[in-house]
Amino acid sequence: MNILMVGAGSMSESLVKGWIASGISPQMITMTNRTDRVRLDVLATQYGVRTTAEEQVDQFDVVVLAMQPDGVLDYVKQHTWTNQLVVSVAAHITPAEIEAHVTCGAVCAMPNTPVAFRTGMTGLWFGDHISDIKKRQATALFERVGETVETDASTMPYLMAAAGCSPAFFYEIVGAMTPVLTKAGFNESVARRIIAQAMKGSAELLLHEERPTAELIQDVAAPGGPTDRGVHVLREHQLSEAMHAALMESAREEN
Ligand SMILES: NC(=O)c1ccc[n+]([C@@H]2O[C@H](COP(=O)([O-])OP(=O)(O)OC[C@H]3O[C@@H](n4cnc5c(N)ncnc54)[C@H](OP(=O)(O)O)[C@@H]3O)[C@@H](O)[C@H]2O)c1
Repeated sequence: MNILMVGAGSMSESLVKGWIASGISPQMITMTNRTDRVRLDVLATQYGVRTTAEEQVDQFDVVVLAMQPDGVLDYVKQHTWTNQLVVSVAAHITPAEIEAHVTCGAVCAMPNTPVAFRTGMTGLWFGDHISDIKKRQATALFERVGETVETDASTMPYLMAAAGCSPAFFYEIVGAMTPVLTKAGFNESVARRIIAQAMKGSAELLLHEERPTAELIQDVAAPGGPTDRGVHVLREHQLSEAMHAALMESAREEN
């Protein structure tokens, strides 16, 4: 299976890193972009992938469209497709828009950058013209780098907000917590490790628990104790409302 990555930005690199860690040979991956040749040289040196300035998409089994959304449909129109697995990771592009220009079907995937460490969460929205074999191929490809969930026109924007965008929300929270620890005397990297490991542990617990989050909070927050007092501060500052509004905003399509 040889893979063409069209676009060599952070999402493309995260996927390539995760796929190589999952056992895909770097020599089976080719990366390309429009202008930044230096970036391609850096990626070739770092990961051992192939790069090209003039790709022929019909030479590849899988073509991942990982450029900014406004370039996707022009790219699809300008190339000749045979029987590729066409995967777009671009926000707000639909499978139907791509399938208007290809006969081999398309899938719109929404991964997140943790795919680099094979802990990704990817939404898969299959086009009407994609075969079952290709659906399984796409699912298997993204399961190499984390979990997948099937999405559609209604759920994709919210999957994107909750999984694609949320790493930035979590980093925002870490950015707010870190100075408290550095002021207390931890150096920056230790402070970050403490918070990240606490987040990772909480996530692990959430993945193994089915009880409501309110009960999980009660496990940690004895009435009047330090956690309970901290949770009250979060509620006074309307963290829930802020998170709800952030998700709704990220899910909203720009006009
Ligand atoms: N970052 C995320 O967390 C994330 C999550 C989910 C989905 N996505 C989606 O992934 C896509 C890429 O995001 P990103 O954050 O990786 O962006 P980025 O860092 O800006 O990278 C975009 C890449 O695409 C290349 N490019 C642009 N137009 C091209 C074209 N016509 N042909 C070939 N290469 C082209 C750019 O290089 P040149 O300018 O040199 O061509 C650059 O290498 C977006 O559509 C985004 O919606 C991103």
